[in-house]
Amino acid sequence: MANTNTAGKPASGGLGRLFIRKSVEQMHAEHAQGELKKTLGPLNLIFLGIGCIIGTGIFVLTGRAAAEFAGPGIMISFVITGTLCALVALAYAELAAAIPVSGSAYSYSYASMGEIVAWIMGLLLVLEYGLAASTVAVGWSGYVVSFLADYGITIPAALTAAPGVEVTDHAGAVIGTGAMNLPALLAIGAVTALLVLGVSESATVNNVVVVIKVSVVIAFIVIGAPYVNPDNWSPLIPAQVPPPPEGSDMSLWGQIGDALWNVVTAQNTAQYGVGGLIAGAATIFFAYIGFEAVSTAGAESKNPSRDMPIGILGSLIVCTILYILTSAVLVGIVPYTMLNNPAPIALAVNEIGLPWFATLVKIGAIAGLSSVMLVLLYGQTRIFYTMARDGLIPSVFASVHKKFKTPWVNTILVGILAAGFAGFMSLDALANLTNVGTLAAFAIICITVLYLRFARPDMKRPFNMPLPVMIGVATLGALMCVFLLMSLMAHVPTRNFFLIYLGAGFLVYFAYGMWNSKLAKGQIVRGHEDVDPVR
Ligand code: ALA
Repeated sequence: MANTNTAGKPASGGLGRLFIRKSVEQMHAEHAQGELKKTLGPLNLIFLGIGCIIGTGIFVLTGRAAAEFAGPGIMISFVITGTLCALVALAYAELAAAIPVSGSAYSYSYASMGEIVAWIMGLLLVLEYGLAASTVAVGWSGYVVSFLADYGITIPAALTAAPGVEVTDHAGAVIGTGAMNLPALLAIGAVTALLVLGVSESATVNNVVVVIKVSVVIAFIVIGAPYVNPDNWSPLIPAQVPPPPEGSDMSLWGQIGDALWNVVTAQNTAQYGVGGLIAGAATIFFAYIGFEAVSTAGAESKNPSRDMPIGILGSLIVCTILYILTSAVLVGIVPYTMLNNPAPIALAVNEIGLPWFATLVKIGAIAGLSSVMLVLLYGQTRIFYTMARDGLIPSVFASVHKKFKTPWVNTILVGILAAGFAGFMSLDALANLTNVGTLAAFAIICITVLYLRFARPDMKRPFNMPLPVMIGVATLGALMCVFLLMSLMAHVPTRNFFLIYLGAGFLVYFAYGMWNSKLAKGQIVRGHEDVDPVR
């Protein structure tokens, strides 16, 4: 394989240098010496996935996406995004079974399309993990503020939201404007401290939290279903606001055509209508992020070839079903226009006159979101750790605390940044950026699978769909990711931030990473054995 670096052999020069690859075998060798216990079975992996998936997306963003974009059609938005994630999950399943190493998407890119793509993947994963942790912290803050208010503890409105964000009470009346989201900032601070001390979530704690979260969601569906008023579901797709220009083709196909055009030209700013369904799908995509976290536990899985696909697809299927049902019940109980609320599920429960259950929902959400924050920030620090070990970012990110055995400087830097974002950026801005980064990462994963099918047809693939099926799955998966990404690009601040971020990332690579890459220098990259891995 051209440009594939074998340990000890300097890389080729020129443009080919950018596409220098770690061989799959090299990765296996790196991790064979790892001292990780292989303890995770299929059920643990499904729980690991659900632990990372169910969070701010379903507990907060569903309400906002229904109120701002999709109306009751949010159920359809969940189906669209669930389909996209199923396609991407099949691609992940193939990679995770074939290359069961920690490091996940970053490592897959390094092994296939080379260093520059791995670098881009690293940049995108910062959005998927680091910024997602800030997003979840803002969701957590909404439920904590609401919970405390139930007990008469009121935090001043200015301290509960990012600058400029309107703060509403449970009835939707505006009660102030935010200056800083203090609870979100403190939450990230606390999680960072735990991570520096080496408190990562054990499989047992994760399983307990998952049982709590899933119980709350199922209880909401079962208890709420009899209170659904089918009138609230109608019309399923409310008319577009503002209405389309005079003379537009108002048939369903006409509307779909207009919406598709607006999306691909990054102009989909519609509220309701078909465009709103798509914007809603792009927003609640956040709710699905996390199923791929299973792939990061490859090195700890007992039988990765069989169990990784089960973990990835199993957790996604469970959550998709729960999400569609939850959204149906939510918009069935509360008129969608009232759902732009920091704790919409609790609002719905209050609406049906069950305050005790609203308290349980809040406790479940707070516990669940805490664990998602921990897992996401943990993932972010380990991605930086792996990149630093590869020489692509400064080695301080890989320095390990003597006593705690954690990458402490890395963790503190990540914590400060994530806390800043959580304290001063709005939920919408954070969720949009996380979604854009993750959709781009997922598109690259789909392309990676296709690439490896042709570049390494001989590679052992324990999860192996027939070639024509995988071509269809990965192509459609990549196209759907780009499609939803384009829908988010209609939002100018999101687009500018994303493009500037990627541009700055490239500069850092050419100024630093490229010159310090251990693979390029022909240095053997040792196993990442002295710190817990990404999982
Ligand atoms: N899917 C996770 C959440 O919704 C990240 O919080």
